Amino acid sequence: MNICYDEKRQIFKLDTPGASMALALADGKWLGQIYFGPRLNSTDFAWLLATDRPPYTPDRHPREAVSFFDCFPSAYPVDNAGDFRESCLSVRTQAGQIDCLPIFESWEILPGKPELAGLPATFGGADDCNTLRVILRDAAAGVRVELYYTAFIQLDVIAQSARICNDSAEAVWLERALSACLNLPYEGQELLTLHGSWAREGMIDIQNIGTGIHGLASRRGVSSHQDHPFLAIVSPGTTQDRGEVRALHFVYSGSFLAQVQRDQFDQLRAVMGIHPDGFRWKLEGGASFQTPEAILVYSDAGLGAMTRTLHNLYREHLIRGAYRSGPRPVLINNWEATYFDFDEEKLLRIARRAAELKIELFVLDDGWFGERDTDSGYLGDWKVCARKLPHGLRGLAEQINALGMRFGLWMEPEMVSENSDLYRAHPDWVIRTATRTPLRCRDQYVLDLSRPEVEEHVWQRVSETLRSADIRYLKWDMNRSLTNLGSAALPADRQGELGHRYVLALYRLQQRLMDEFPGVLLENCCGGGGRFDPGMLFYSPQIWCSDDTDAVERLRIQEGISMLYPLSCIGAHVSACPNHVVGRSTPFETRALTAMWGTFGYELDVTKLSPEEQEQIPAQVQRYRECRALIQTGDYYRLASLRDGQLDAKMVVDARGAQAIVGLTRVLNRPNQRPQRVRLRGLIPDAIYVDSETLREYPGEVLLHIGLPIELPDGDFQSKLIRLVRK
Ligand code: GLA
Repeated sequence: MNICYDEKRQIFKLDTPGASMALALADGKWLGQIYFGPRLNSTDFAWLLATDRPPYTPDRHPREAVSFFDCFPSAYPVDNAGDFRESCLSVRTQAGQIDCLPIFESWEILPGKPELAGLPATFGGADDCNTLRVILRDAAAGVRVELYYTAFIQLDVIAQSARICNDSAEAVWLERALSACLNLPYEGQELLTLHGSWAREGMIDIQNIGTGIHGLASRRGVSSHQDHPFLAIVSPGTTQDRGEVRALHFVYSGSFLAQVQRDQFDQLRAVMGIHPDGFRWKLEGGASFQTPEAILVYSDAGLGAMTRTLHNLYREHLIRGAYRSGPRPVLINNWEATYFDFDEEKLLRIARRAAELKIELFVLDDGWFGERDTDSGYLGDWKVCARKLPHGLRGLAEQINALGMRFGLWMEPEMVSENSDLYRAHPDWVIRTATRTPLRCRDQYVLDLSRPEVEEHVWQRVSETLRSADIRYLKWDMNRSLTNLGSAALPADRQGELGHRYVLALYRLQQRLMDEFPGVLLENCCGGGGRFDPGMLFYSPQIWCSDDTDAVERLRIQEGISMLYPLSCIGAHVSACPNHVVGRSTPFETRALTAMWGTFGYELDVTKLSPEEQEQIPAQVQRYRECRALIQTGDYYRLASLRDGQLDAKMVVDARGAQAIVGLTRVLNRPNQRPQRVRLRGLIPDAIYVDSETLREYPGEVLLHIGLPIELPDGDFQSKLIRLVRK
């Protein structure tokens, strides 16, 4: 059992292979979270609670109760009760007051991990993990708080969530119900986060943790391009291989808050959860609210170990469905090839050539419905445009299938255009406040999924479309943020539930998709990576990573995203040059070698490529097929970053160290250089590795301690893939 309770010291200790987390009771009442770090065998650290020193506990020293709460490392801090730091819970009672201070009541250990009803979450049986449930209660408010801490047996992961139950007869309102709180001493750590924008997702940022509140958030209704629902508190100078990392990652796809506060006593408190701004959840008597979960990872071996822990966790305990470990098809998507300007013949011309070039799946993107020749109009109706597709989706799919390729489709089910039959019939089905026309974004509105009839309508349109042809892949897009939050159907005192209800309905829809169309490969998308989060990953084994397909930009974006997510889920395509977003031209091979480090595909008109480029495609596809299993399942190591110079280098290696793939790209060439090398990781020191192309042999220890020579052709944007096999 990897969870224990030391009754004498009143300490709960949760162990993972290399880490422990400790919760402790002060005066048998107040639950603190007092440790998260390297694994401990002992529980002899109750003195951390310092209950024998001022300010003492309130029972012993009621005079200074506020001082106690304002420095106590509360496991689930509440508002308006003496702790002035970031809190997790704010309960407004019938009296209109914020009033809830739950105290410890009981605990139990559950084998495995309970599901979180209606929410995406990591899963595991009794062989994988155990869960500590601690119950706190505020008898006066009638509120029970259940805290869940799941400790994984093979991975340095603790999953944390909370359930708030109203045991009284009267309704209360949750104005803040976060998922996780982590208290740590400040030891000069830095804060590592991912920021970005449209076409610039996943940029790594590191900052000092000065006094006060730091962190990031989304109030966009989606997890967002701009701020990623992740933060890591890292020891100063943490590298890929060295340094302590304590990371939090939020399994949620809507607005979120992720903050770290350095308080007056130089203590750190990190909190993570649904963004409290605009959130107000009415909890009727007898009802409960389940927060999404936050994943806590500990690494004492730098960021690389954190990355591999998250990759393993998500591959084994989050991603589901038929494609979870199956090979992902090499696809071609027509978006950058044609945009809205296509018809059946044009698509088939691309498809025919793509099939000859050994591409496995053809994806028809936006523009196949209504009279949609621009990004204005017709969203919501999903009626095939007969002018463009005279034989409908079925006819097109049949012709694609006859070429030996599977067929996939783009939809944006959560949206409606003003110019649509759906909007004309149901203008009240969009998210909007009572008195104002909602703001348009990309000329579209967001459907109010909190209404059951709207959710059902969306399901009908999606399922009808999927049944209308042999569709094996769905790109589920979402191209705007939520604004003007208001629902025509929710009562006034439930309007604050809209954002979360929207996300819950989205999850239900995607779950239904998994249940009723288990053979369909779902790829989520949100104008690129605007909803690239562990929540969506629970439903779709791959997510389109960015609308920026330029190879150099992608190196940066994919570095950030692959720091958290397995390569098997990162949608990456080869596109045309000059690149449509940045206007840069890079070699065709470099584009292919960049897209290899994800789910490989093409997004261009193959017929417009030069004959030499076209000829390269079958070999590129074949190379990906050969590498696919290792890319999808191998241990990933970041070797060099464009944040430090001109070289991007990474590798994957199988668990036995028998095979490895190394990717090298140099962005700008420099004159007058000595030969460069890059040290590899994860290999067996006393094994001999053979470069499968040149047949050159290298001792493992040489690759690990001296490095692999970087022998790239002259010129900018040069890239290479090296496959090493143990002799
Ligand atoms: C979004 C997606 C693109 C493409 C377009 C279609 O921007 O990220 O890949 O599907 O929508 O409108």
